Amino acid sequence: MSATTTRKTSTTGKAGDRVIIFDTTLRDGEQSPGASMNLDEKIKIALLLEEMGVDVIEAGFPVASNGDFEAVREIAKLVRNSSVCGLSRAGRVDIDRAWEAVQYAKHPRIHTFIATSKLHMKYKLQMEPDQVHQAVIDSVTHARNLCDDVEWSAEDATRSEHDFLCRTVESAIKAGARTINIPDTVGYAVPHEFGALIGMLFERVPNIDKAVVSVHCHNDLGLAVANSLAAVGAGARQVECTVNGLGERAGNASMEEIVMALRTRHDAIPFTSGIKTEYITRASRLVSGVTGFVVQPNKAIVGANAFAHESGIHQDGMLKHAGTYEIMTPESVGLTKSSLVMGKHSGRHAFKSKLKELGFELGDNAVTDAFRRFKDLCDRKKDVYDEDITALVDDEVVRGHDRVKFVSLQVIAGSKGPQSAELELEIDGTHHVAKTTGNGPVDATFNAIKEMVPHTARLQLYQVHAVTEGTDAQAEVTVRLEENGKSVNGQGADPDTLVASARAYIHALNKLLTKRAKTAPAAMTA
Ligand code: KIV
Ligand code: ZN
Repeated sequence: MSATTTRKTSTTGKAGDRVIIFDTTLRDGEQSPGASMNLDEKIKIALLLEEMGVDVIEAGFPVASNGDFEAVREIAKLVRNSSVCGLSRAGRVDIDRAWEAVQYAKHPRIHTFIATSKLHMKYKLQMEPDQVHQAVIDSVTHARNLCDDVEWSAEDATRSEHDFLCRTVESAIKAGARTINIPDTVGYAVPHEFGALIGMLFERVPNIDKAVVSVHCHNDLGLAVANSLAAVGAGARQVECTVNGLGERAGNASMEEIVMALRTRHDAIPFTSGIKTEYITRASRLVSGVTGFVVQPNKAIVGANAFAHESGIHQDGMLKHAGTYEIMTPESVGLTKSSLVMGKHSGRHAFKSKLKELGFELGDNAVTDAFRRFKDLCDRKKDVYDEDITALVDDEVVRGHDRVKFVSLQVIAGSKGPQSAELELEIDGTHHVAKTTGNGPVDATFNAIKEMVPHTARLQLYQVHAVTEGTDAQAEVTVRLEENGKSVNGQGADPDTLVASARAYIHALNKLLTKRAKTAPAAMTA
């Protein structure tokens, strides 16, 4: 990675070599196939991002759907410390809609973009470079007439011709853009080349010091974080990233990796962020629970194995000195020691304090529901750990406004068949029961759901993993459903794998019902 640049860095962005963290979990992250979130879930995530010190929250793409618009507007009303940003293409309608949504924010930002690569201009936009250049000036000027804080992005910047990129960046700054974002939209760049691209902009764009240079890297080659850090070394002072690296296709640069690299290797990358890193685990779990995207066990920083030491040599080293095999402490990312929590004799008060310690602020009704499920769990599981409580509450939280709710399940399984399921659901407040058979108990259970909520969605993924160790561990099931090209993930947790499976399927189905209302605008390839 390149060292700190001494060339002219952006005056606005230089500020003590602090890197602005721009989180786009709620926008680019939500564009991951299957990762849709409802309003309550988005608000919950936005408030946590604010609490953890994110500088800019990209809350959505207001013109994309009424749901997106409403989410951006509500987040703009609630968040006070972070800037709240809405994305828009270059057209006036998009920009007006973005402003309509973000105007309530204490620190509103409009983020407008247009593609600058030959490929995108010719085939996607079907515009000549001069027309694109004019659109940059018009869109930024229009956005600046509405909002002081305007960010402009050159979509597919890494495959754009340098002369044209410099020309559009200069014009965007002249038109009033305060932040210039250089996306590696298709995850094509490699670190030394991307650092050089940012360096080239600092060399060649005469007014570059009037704006913060930002980067937005996709992870198609697994280089999003490395590219972002190379860009910081070359003068960029805003990094766009997402929790757990969520995002289109292979995702975006992972926020936790960027932030912990800055913190852990300050000697080599001498820049800071304002993120309270102790919130990282909580944010990761919340986003994973809400989207149904399970974090891979060996994922850096937030994977279940990120701080686990399996081999005897490593364990021995760790006992003698943690620094032998740990470059950062679990506590620094908010990971508390896996501790045995309460048992069946624990009261509601102790349970509430535990929830607080784990980072959950629930209303009275939600605490009552979670407590009931906790007691139920204590009856069925010998040892209840922090992870069990987290899984149980995540499960409860994401179910708040579901139209279809799980009530009970009775299954006949085993080798003698036929396997059957008797399932009770509450659908829009009314109780329904179905008795079905299937090719195994999971199939029978899913058939019962299909009988009560007829749909044509295809099951794309069915995945089970254990929350903790032991045969009485809770099962966490992920289900992905696809309907008319739209896919959604659902999650469910329970000590009974079949109950967890039913909950996961129902969760996905509820998301599909929400998603059916959404329509994506044309050329929304961001
Ligand atoms: O990947 C991309 O180019 C984007 C832009 C809209 C910033 O998401
Ligand atoms: Zn993107």
